[in-house]
Amino acid sequence: MSTDTPVKPQVNEALVKKIQDLGPWHMNIQLTEDLNTGQVFSNEGEVYHRPSNAGVSLLNLRDGFLDLMKRLYPEGLGDKRFLDCACNAGGYCFWAREMNAKAAFGFDVREHWIQQARFVKNHRVVGPTDGIGFQVKDLYDLPKLEMNPFDITIFKGIFYHLPDPITGLKIAADMTNEVMLFNTSTTWGEKDGYMKSGWESRENVMSGVHGLKWYPTGPKVMGDILRWLGFKEMKLMFYKQQYDQPQLGRTEIIASKVEGKLDAIGGEWLT
Ligand SMILES: C[S@@+](CC[C@H](N)C(=O)[O-])C[C@H]1O[C@@H](n2cnc3c(N)ncnc32)[C@H](O)[C@@H]1O
Repeated sequence: MSTDTPVKPQVNEALVKKIQDLGPWHMNIQLTEDLNTGQVFSNEGEVYHRPSNAGVSLLNLRDGFLDLMKRLYPEGLGDKRFLDCACNAGGYCFWAREMNAKAAFGFDVREHWIQQARFVKNHRVVGPTDGIGFQVKDLYDLPKLEMNPFDITIFKGIFYHLPDPITGLKIAADMTNEVMLFNTSTTWGEKDGYMKSGWESRENVMSGVHGLKWYPTGPKVMGDILRWLGFKEMKLMFYKQQYDQPQLGRTEIIASKVEGKLDAIGGEWLT
């Protein structure tokens, strides 16, 4: 054999089989040097053709998240406690620990996703997995856990799956001392400042479990709610039409209870 022949990485076939069995996946998470959860389903580690992944988009979310967190916390997350509401397979908790978060906790209402998160915790060797906890939990039951507050909270992809979203967001806001990364679907092309009701499947693995849902009509209504919940400063990171559902938009807001924390991150102030 020529010494120029590339060596094919030895991918652990048992892990590949387990990843397949635990599908569908929404998050591409690196487990070993040679294996991530996305590559089992596509070369790019992403799947936009939803039917091929049981209707779920499989996404590379790590780099964008770490880029934002490094702008917010250039010194790392050394003394920070990190909370992810609706954590899915737990990717953000693992990536927060890569930045040395002191502790990370993720919960999701679905056993399906928490099984994935626990599987990743057991098999990931490319980053720290200690100090991370996961639980199957409905957001509305979070206060029953009587946890200590967190410094950084992610509230992404859950607001528009709740029957009483302001109460739900208040639960997370009350447990947050510093910064919230908030991301939601909205309506698109409607006057901002309202909430629009609708119904959704209780069974779809990416949706809520209560049936009733609410879309905000844009960033203004979310800014008003977040301000009422105690966040002093907010930046709109983006507000755009969704590529796959043009009747919907997507908005991301970083909200802070600490003045000055958002000065360095770009985005547009929400006043
Ligand atoms: C659109 S996915 C977003 C996943 C992830 N947060 C992200 O941004 O990639 C919605 C997630 O919310 C979870 N979920 C829906 N309703 C919930 C609730 N009441 N409490 C906790 N998790 C919920 C779903 O199981 C699913 O994992």
